[in-house]
Amino acid sequence: MPDLATKLTHRLAIASLTITALLAFSGCEKKPAGDAHASAPKPAADASKAKARIGFSQIGAESDWRKANTDSIQAEAAARGYDLVFVDAQQKQENQIKALRSFIVQDVDVIAFSPVVETGWEPVLKEIKQAGIPVVLTDRAVEVSDPDLFITFIGADFVEEGRRAARVMAKITGGKGSIAELQGTPGSAPAIDRKKGFEEELKNHPDLKIIKTQTGEFTRAKGREVMETFLKSPEGKQIIALYAHNDDMALGAIQAIEEAGLKPGTDIKIISIDAVRPAFDAMIAGKLNCTVECNPLLGPQLFDAIEAVLAKQPVEKRIVTKASVFEQATAAEDIKTRKY
Ligand code: AHR
Repeated sequence: MPDLATKLTHRLAIASLTITALLAFSGCEKKPAGDAHASAPKPAADASKAKARIGFSQIGAESDWRKANTDSIQAEAAARGYDLVFVDAQQKQENQIKALRSFIVQDVDVIAFSPVVETGWEPVLKEIKQAGIPVVLTDRAVEVSDPDLFITFIGADFVEEGRRAARVMAKITGGKGSIAELQGTPGSAPAIDRKKGFEEELKNHPDLKIIKTQTGEFTRAKGREVMETFLKSPEGKQIIALYAHNDDMALGAIQAIEEAGLKPGTDIKIISIDAVRPAFDAMIAGKLNCTVECNPLLGPQLFDAIEAVLAKQPVEKRIVTKASVFEQATAAEDIKTRKY
């Protein structure tokens, strides 16, 4: 496998040949030496200064969290001068697999991606390994039998987020009552782990029970639609609290609760995950009780890891991002320092 410097030199040579060919094709004349208007000769391309090409496959734009995550990654790539090949998969694993294969064909230097679901990655990851391209996972994990198929995974501890949400749920409900749950994308790491962590902690509160649970696909529209069906169901009147796997679904559910003539945050206590700005607005308005933070600003950590990989320095296998829990009582103060 050619090393990075060789790849970059090769790429620069191809780029320079292409430009020469294009100039010749467009009929540009070479100015004679000594012509005052001739452009100064370009210094020979310096491979050590050329930046690597990074392929990044993003899940989509389903939530405010995801949009902040995309902005952070693109801004960091631009700030550090990397050539970022960014592809949006529109929530489909098949699109992500296609993008990953196209990164192999483009011979990128590092592949980074946020996998929409946990399973089904082994074949494409093996192809990438065979091509000698290092992989960095960000935000969501994959389930693979060979951990060497990726270098590192940078992201939050989703199980802990679920536990944190359940602890606050127990506190604000007095430890009893019927809960509705809006799950994230089926098969995704945050949906699986946030449910697991929440249920694990709920075992300490046997009078708190989940009576309705369904996916809201991490979107506002679906969160609203599913909450409406929960409230109209025969068990709807028993619901005293909602646990939503992200803020967007909680915000959609708030609309459905109001449309049903109930007061979100009072008649139905609500806890969600992400801590995006609109969640703080909802807490200040008294409509949301708590949001558990999941930091989307992963760009700096992602590019630190990519740079270490390119420099062949050791990288920790798991990099866990830090997060807090925000409740209604301090929301007006907390919002002042929010970055997303
Ligand atoms: O993987 C992170 C989750 O994906 C966020 O919590 C959610 O909002 C998003 O779409």
